[in-house]
Amino acid sequence: MKNFNIAILGCGTVGSGVAKILLDLKDQLNDKSDHVVELKKIVDLFPKKSAESYNLPLNLFCGSGNDLTKDEATKYVNEIINDTNIHLIVETIGGTSDYVLDIILNSLRAGKHVVTANKAILAEKGKIIFQTAKDNHVCLGYEASVCGAIPIIKAIRENFTGDQVIEISGILNGTSNYILSKMQEEGLNFSSALKMAQKAGYAEADPTLDISGGDAGHKLAILIKLAYGADIDYKELLIEGIQKVEKEDLDFANEMGCTIKLICYARKIDNKVFASVKPMMVKYENFLSKVSGATNCVELLNKYSGKHYFIGKGAGSLETASSIVADIVFTAKYDGKIKNITDLADLEIQSSDNFEFPYNITFTTEDYPGITGLVTTAIGENKINIDTVSHNRHNKKSAEFSVATMPCTMVQIKKAIADIRAKAPSLLIGEPKIIPILN
Ligand code: HSE
Repeated sequence: MKNFNIAILGCGTVGSGVAKILLDLKDQLNDKSDHVVELKKIVDLFPKKSAESYNLPLNLFCGSGNDLTKDEATKYVNEIINDTNIHLIVETIGGTSDYVLDIILNSLRAGKHVVTANKAILAEKGKIIFQTAKDNHVCLGYEASVCGAIPIIKAIRENFTGDQVIEISGILNGTSNYILSKMQEEGLNFSSALKMAQKAGYAEADPTLDISGGDAGHKLAILIKLAYGADIDYKELLIEGIQKVEKEDLDFANEMGCTIKLICYARKIDNKVFASVKPMMVKYENFLSKVSGATNCVELLNKYSGKHYFIGKGAGSLETASSIVADIVFTAKYDGKIKNITDLADLEIQSSDNFEFPYNITFTTEDYPGITGLVTTAIGENKINIDTVSHNRHNKKSAEFSVATMPCTMVQIKKAIADIRAKAPSLLIGEPKIIPILN
């Protein structure tokens, strides 16, 4: 059997997991890949600390064991890139800096296969990375970049080549889902649920990327590229996080037979892809409503084979590493003959605000007779068909009620709200809360 030699760049949570699995499952990996898969080198700024913390042999680490300066680490990285005896480089440094981008591009240009979990760099700078891999006839493995352990990339890239993905809807961020689940199940407000997520080790000290929808957006951008061949710029995506979801919104949702989830959504219609990351009310009949805690779940609706659900762990050291190792085995086995990404098609990315969803609109208003009539009339005049109107909650000076609509666009809803304001300028208190409903 031929040798297939690996180097790992960056030995933190995920890189160390890759090293551990490569050492633990050596015989199995050789058998599955028809190669002798061998971890040859690891570059990390803190070799001794990493070796001790993760129980890895120090002699795998480049250098004498002492902490490396950035220049020393760069020297070892460049030696690996130029080493003809290394066949595949695992990039687990992370981040979107030019430093990391150059490492990935130079590795590919040197004819090395690259496997990475770096969703941010693929979502933001994927075009040049995928093109460089293609030009150099090497593999770029990125299963771990979307939902950690869940094999969603391979499903779309390999298993569904006899089908077409029509719609993607998914819970792609565990931290947000954990927070929303705690708010629903334990009646917590957003900040208490966020604190719990931090205590449980899901949310970072700075949780911005998770709760703002940015992390989920990175993953959705990668799925849209792969499923549809869209040349999507991550910045084009409509992204809204969960920061504004209140406990009361979940109560209202419950009254309507729904919960609230941060949903990554994309649907291709002709040459348009409608996409967004935003909180949605999900009907209890929809399986996604049952996905609680830090679990991830992707639903694919395919043209011929219908609905599929992929559910599992979206993060974690060994969970994410297991996907990286699977990519290593796959690359060795098929000797680099893998089509990394779908060829670009002529598609237009549109915000899902231009797509018709049923919506729930919660109004806080002044409280006097005729208000419900005025609001619902304006909605009707904008050709929005109303499904249900909730009961009014009368507070001391205001009332709160919600209107669930039949499918319509945000454009229609915004026009209806502008009409209400024009007819009765002081009627609406604050901004109405508008949330799509996923059936
Ligand atoms: N922080 C992410 C999450 C996992 O909470 O799902 C890494 O993308």
